[in-house]
Amino acid sequence: MDTIQIKDKKFTISIKEQDILAEVARVANEINRDLAGKNPLFLSVLNGSFMFTADLMKHITIPCEVSFVKLASYQGVSSTGVIKEVIGITEDLTDRTVVIVEDIVDTGLTMQRLLENLGTRNPKEILIASLLVKPDKLKVDLNIEYVAMKIPNDFIVGYGLDYDGFGRNYSDIYTVVED
Ligand code: IMP
Ligand code: MG
Repeated sequence: MDTIQIKDKKFTISIKEQDILAEVARVANEINRDLAGKNPLFLSVLNGSFMFTADLMKHITIPCEVSFVKLASYQGVSSTGVIKEVIGITEDLTDRTVVIVEDIVDTGLTMQRLLENLGTRNPKEILIASLLVKPDKLKVDLNIEYVAMKIPNDFIVGYGLDYDGFGRNYSDIYTVVED
């Protein structure tokens, strides 16, 4: 299946599953090497990172914990508009090495909010593992320690990522076709 239709948009295959999995395994090996002895807590950000998290964790061989959080958007009273609240953290982050597992960093604003929030919970360190980064769209200064793949600015779906809720189920990544 090289092209798919989701609602009003056409998408064409751009990154094949086997290429994704090779990069995910590489990232896992870097983490195994860097975080040995640190008992990291992986915090996977739902919904987008469910596939990445599953494949990444299959290659993590050091002692670790895995947990899941969600970012709930609501219109805040502040002038900045949409505020994202972190829900689902039940673990004590005090003195922990935390690895945020994200599907994609686009402008970086979501990640910045998450870092601010987690930073108030006294972790020892917070590292970022993102499946995808769109470097040309980054608006904030972020140190992303682990990146599986850098991609251009185009909108993509598949391997956990959605267009209006659909498309998360595909094992390959597809890029929107502009017409
Ligand atoms: P940011 O705050 O601009 O970095 O946006 C991050 C969030 O936007 C991601 O966690 C995704 O949910 C969503 N996002 C950004 N780019 C894409 C894309 O190309 N496809 C699907 N979702 C995207
Ligand atoms: Mg996400």
